[in-house]
Amino acid sequence: MRTQVGIVGAGPAGLLLSHLLHLNGIESVVLEARSRGYVEARIRAGVLEQPVEKLLNDSGVGARMRELGLPHEGVNLRTGGRDHRIDLKALTGKGTMVYSQHLIVQDLIAARLAAGGDVRFEASGIGLRDVRTDAPYIVYEQDGKQHRLDCAVIAGCDGFHGISRDTIPASVRQSFDREYPFGWLGILADVAPSSHEVVYASHDRGFALLSMRSPSVSRLYLQCEPDEDISKWSDDRIWEELSTRLARDGFTLQAGPITQKGVTQMRSFVVEPMQYGKLFLVGDAAHIVPPTGAKGLNLAAADVAVLTRALTAWFRTGATDLLESYGETCLRRVWKAQRFSWWMTSLLHRFSSHTPFERRVQQAELDGLFGSVAASTALAENYVGLPLIL
Ligand code: APR
Ligand code: PHB
Repeated sequence: MRTQVGIVGAGPAGLLLSHLLHLNGIESVVLEARSRGYVEARIRAGVLEQPVEKLLNDSGVGARMRELGLPHEGVNLRTGGRDHRIDLKALTGKGTMVYSQHLIVQDLIAARLAAGGDVRFEASGIGLRDVRTDAPYIVYEQDGKQHRLDCAVIAGCDGFHGISRDTIPASVRQSFDREYPFGWLGILADVAPSSHEVVYASHDRGFALLSMRSPSVSRLYLQCEPDEDISKWSDDRIWEELSTRLARDGFTLQAGPITQKGVTQMRSFVVEPMQYGKLFLVGDAAHIVPPTGAKGLNLAAADVAVLTRALTAWFRTGATDLLESYGETCLRRVWKAQRFSWWMTSLLHRFSSHTPFERRVQQAELDGLFGSVAASTALAENYVGLPLIL
């Protein structure tokens, strides 16, 4: 079996790439380890930058997002019992769109299948071969049989725990890594969000975040230990802690049935280079950001935009310049998003290593943001999203 682009992973990166390549007349096959039901139900991120929302709309997969998504024009920073609203719309002319990642995955799978696209679920034992040559191929197992997929190029869209990144020899790869000394305890709850905009709260007991997935589903997070034992957190304890950290005069946090609980690790990670021969790493396979600022999915979409442009030029004209500069182009944006996510994380969390001096400096930075249009604008520009291709 032969295709133009072999794509490993049916997360948002792999599916969006397959969709955009199709619109440009390029064939691909997507190989995914999990089942369709699993990837369509996996709850992850939910805040789309304006350029990513536009990309989904412009490429014809935005219908359900326009119907169910929640457009946001501002975001709130809460500390010391008061709010500072960052007016995204006034400061940048843009906003964000709150729409669950698993719905985007569903929309993309539906679009691929409707267009006759080839997405193969439950493909195991994937291996990438001869990626430095002009005849790379992918081996995998499905339905108890060994298969081989010959391709012109391979896109490694298999997330942080995938195999693509390790196909680049260790002698060539350089990783940049930071682990944070805390995690996020996240919940989904069947209750109307207590704020119609996202609230980031910095509290002496730790960070808290109020977000949402729909008018009747809330998504909330609490800073916790990186190895927090979730069994120690009853629903009552979670709501009580959230209420304490999100407290503000005139604000009441509405509690409701919790339908999902989990602990997320906080990590910053980048691998360089993002390409090796005919292998291109895309999305979480190449970089992870801590979730503060919600950049992960958006960065994956930006990589896809860069790779689609490069592959389209290459398949149409044979021009290699955009393909050769793929990693370099992506990394300009990746590092800006890394800086922003690291900065938001550092600004809003409690660090047990902080001296009283460092804590005061942290509070002064937050306070400085409250009083400054320039500082608020810098936050807003990054929050609504830099252009996809820098
Ligand atoms: N073989 C085939 N598929 C694999 C393999 C493998 N060896 N390893 C992982 N996968 C699949 C996973 O099951 C998953 O469906 O690759 C996909 C990777 O998807 P994501 O982890 O969602 O990564 P990506 O598509 O880059 O999406 C960007 O950024 O911050 C996050 O929440 C955000 O998940 C989103 C991600
Ligand atoms: C979320 O809704 O899951 C969310 C929102 C904002 C963030 C991170 C996560 O910064």
